[in-house]
Amino acid sequence: MKLARRIDNLPPYVFAEIDKRVAEKRAQGIDVISLGIGDPVEPTPKNIIDKLCEEANNPANHRYPSYFGLSAFRRSIADWYKKRFNVDLDPNTEVLPLIGSKEGIAHINLAVLDPGDTTLIADPGYPVYNTGTILAGVSPVHVPLLEENGFLPDLSAIDSKTVKDAKMIMLNYPNNPTSATADDAFFKDLIDWAQKNQVIIAHDNPYSEITFDGYVAPSFLQFPGAKEVGVEFHSLSKTYNMTGWRIGWACGNTRVIEALGRVKTNIDSGIFNAIQYAGIEALEGPQDIIDEMCGIYQRRRDLIMEALNKIGLKTRKSLATIYVWAKVPDGYTSASFATYVLDKAGVIVSPGNAYGPSGEGYIRICLSVKDDRLVEALDRIESLI
Ligand SMILES: Cc1ncc(COP(=O)(O)O)c(C=O)c1O
Repeated sequence: MKLARRIDNLPPYVFAEIDKRVAEKRAQGIDVISLGIGDPVEPTPKNIIDKLCEEANNPANHRYPSYFGLSAFRRSIADWYKKRFNVDLDPNTEVLPLIGSKEGIAHINLAVLDPGDTTLIADPGYPVYNTGTILAGVSPVHVPLLEENGFLPDLSAIDSKTVKDAKMIMLNYPNNPTSATADDAFFKDLIDWAQKNQVIIAHDNPYSEITFDGYVAPSFLQFPGAKEVGVEFHSLSKTYNMTGWRIGWACGNTRVIEALGRVKTNIDSGIFNAIQYAGIEALEGPQDIIDEMCGIYQRRRDLIMEALNKIGLKTRKSLATIYVWAKVPDGYTSASFATYVLDKAGVIVSPGNAYGPSGEGYIRICLSVKDDRLVEALDRIESLI
């Protein structure tokens, strides 16, 4: 049997590997605490679950959904963008529901790039930025996010030929994995640069609502000219503890949205209608969950920072996301430290290099674990070092 060459080039998905290692350790009777995967442990709010149950009982929802999502859901997304970011979106041409933003992030490569094209991806970055390009036969150019630049890309450092060839750039602030945030000046410069160089911006914004210490994250679309050059991905996963529901969207530039929709209509058949109605309830119903979760994550961030500082691991105080990005101790690589912590303490942390070569020398710790388990994991790490 011969399989596709692109499969050989596809690295194993980092979190699938982490799941495997947790299962192996647990099979050996080890009490593993995973700080590896950004998956909220708190439940989805009840009003959203109740809406799903109600709509799941309606036979009208048992049929194929509309390819482009329920118009009521698209309208709800547009209304939320207006209320939250003061961004105007046409629900019919500038909003496209996705089966989780991950699939759109992978599929956008098929919509805007041809094999052999150049595309720029944040490094370190959410792994699908890289693997999505591989599946599309495109070679990505990694744009390093360095600590000395606040984990923002230095666009002026990209060589002029690469910039000339590049068709798209994939970025994400508030950032996974570094937890860095970008200010208004960054987005304005990015848009100017993209206009000048004819590069499409794909901005991935699933953590805009998970913010701390009074920080309010922007949408890339709220800056002048954004819609002419790009799209933004968003998701209900992290905002409303809905990772398992698979519901997100892309919005912004009409041509990119249309092209992405055309790819998707040929591959999938949309999101279960009952989940889209639950999505409307998420966006339009009570919003208390957001403050509640931000409070929980902020407390966990502080616990982690305090513990890591005590043992001399350098961290940056994050203003957003569900991650803490920390430097590994001298003498370790990302992978050797993650392996050490797993083998000796039974704690999973993600090695930074799993997010790209510029993640080497760091680990990522997730805030999505109950406080008592987090405290235990931190105690175990502390006693190692
Ligand atoms: C930066 C980033 N983008 C996209 C996603 C995917 O989110 P979704 O659940 O909507 O597919 C994640 C999930 O962890 C993420 O961290």
